[in-house]
Amino acid sequence: MSKSTTQPRHAVVTAGAANIGLAIAHVFADAGWKVSICDVDQTALDAACAGNPAVSGYRVDVADAAAVEAFSADCGPVDVLINNAGVAGPIGDVETNSPEDWARCFAVNVQGAFHMVRAVVPGMKGAGSGAIINISTASAVTGLPGRTAYVASKWALEGMTRNLARELGPAGIRVNGIRPGFMDTERMRMLMGRAAEARGASVAEVEAEALGFISLRTKIQPSEIGEMALFLASDAARHVTGQIIGVDGNCEWEG
Ligand SMILES: NC(=O)c1ccc[n+]([C@@H]2O[C@H](COP(=O)([O-])OP(=O)(O)OC[C@H]3O[C@@H](n4cnc5c(N)ncnc54)[C@H](O)[C@@H]3O)[C@@H](O)[C@H]2O)c1
Repeated sequence: MSKSTTQPRHAVVTAGAANIGLAIAHVFADAGWKVSICDVDQTALDAACAGNPAVSGYRVDVADAAAVEAFSADCGPVDVLINNAGVAGPIGDVETNSPEDWARCFAVNVQGAFHMVRAVVPGMKGAGSGAIINISTASAVTGLPGRTAYVASKWALEGMTRNLARELGPAGIRVNGIRPGFMDTERMRMLMGRAAEARGASVAEVEAEALGFISLRTKIQPSEIGEMALFLASDAARHVTGQIIGVDGNCEWEG
């Protein structure tokens, strides 16, 4: 990870135009990095880049291998890749899930990360350094009934993380994962709302129950995922690879 101190280091964040990805982009930009974000939402990209000269936006669906290759060619050599793009996948009993929804979940959450890795690794190998950080979920530890495609896709992403740590370590490239927990985000508010409706309970009741399974009894701010990513990208983590780190207040269980 050593590089000229006169040139800012370059981080790429997928799905970086909103929520956790945007928070990661801000943490890196605030720390003096050049940041390239990609996203499918052009309006969100424009808003994310406005007034932020360190952040460049690209409209890319990570499930599209050709679009990812073009993105990688446009944004140049990358020091740190953060594979943050991840969709919720089908919600409901497994027998009601459609094959198309499963395929889309894996196309974004697993193949999307693979497309990005494939695009940036040659440059990292050439530089003899680099870091890849994959955003998983605390649900990969607890399991989550009704979300089998999502959990299975994140296990695949974690498997990719551990395997690539071995494969790319000799080239000086580190590969780690982060498991966000009960996030203070739009997606979590949406999921809490759905759970409350399904159970005929209030959102406050469902949320209090969820917090009861978290040792620190707290939700996580998106910037905390950015701070962990920045640590994993830093020289302080130069001997950290093949690790999946929870930033979740210790999520003991999920209902
Ligand atoms: N939010 C949570 O509570 C939570 C908890 C645990 C893990 N995670 C993980 O963190 C990551 C980010 O979650 P989030 O809640 O911030 O996401 P989100 O659903 O808010 O989406 C963030 C961005 O992803 C973009 N996006 C969606 N599909 C894309 C694609 N195919 N290519 C490029 N961009 C795409 C969207 O346009 C959006 O701007 C995901 O991998 C998710 O699984 C989230």
